Amino acid sequence: MREVRLAPSILAADFGRLGAHCREATAAGVDWLHVDVMDGHFVPNLTMGPLVVAALRPLANETGCILDVHLMIEAPDVLIPAFVQAGADMVTVHVEACRHLHRTIHHIKELGCRAGVALNPATPLAWLVEILPDVDLALIMSVNPGFGGQSYIPGSTDKIRRLRQMLDAIGSDAWLEVDGGIKPDNAAEAAGAGADVLVAGSAIFGGPHSVAENVAAFRQALAIYRKSPE
Ligand code: DX5
Ligand code: ZN
Repeated sequence: MREVRLAPSILAADFGRLGAHCREATAAGVDWLHVDVMDGHFVPNLTMGPLVVAALRPLANETGCILDVHLMIEAPDVLIPAFVQAGADMVTVHVEACRHLHRTIHHIKELGCRAGVALNPATPLAWLVEILPDVDLALIMSVNPGFGGQSYIPGSTDKIRRLRQMLDAIGSDAWLEVDGGIKPDNAAEAAGAGADVLVAGSAIFGGPHSVAENVAAFRQALAIYRKSPE
């Protein structure tokens, strides 16, 4: 069993003190930072670009955490080089946005970056069959992308389970990431179904508790999926 990773989504962070807020997460021991890029076309919201990735790169270098860039944009091919150059470790594109998905995935890899593929809630897993052997990460959206703070779609758990079977069947060691509405009270359900990277925005950067307390709540919920407490 692979250890489950937490990937705090900086979408829910305080942008007025983004670096310090992210540092609270890395200090709490998280090993990924998830960057949600939205263009106002693929999803009805506009967020951040390569400059934010570049601004977080020194923190990632210092702590060894992975900058996980989730592109919810209509024309990813145009912007992929800029995100890689800015310091992304992983670039994930949506199958729904890529007319030539194989070309796009290999473009990311040729630029020296790891490549992921994401599926919206209503997109069938069958869309992944041909590309799965080529990716480093497969992302199940457990909310409709566009906004933080939405509720986990219950059917996602079965989709995670079926994707885990597909990955195992081809002997893939790609990460299975789940994104949207993940909280301490459903984290173990997603991990138990086979997820090994859990994105959480509002449950880590939002609410009345500190980032450290929120991360601790996840660690407790995921204790059986981690080798040792950190
Ligand atoms: C949704 C984004 C998610 C989201 C997660 O479009 O891709 O990463 O910000 O936020 P929470 O955990 O608040 O659902
Ligand atoms: Zn995301």
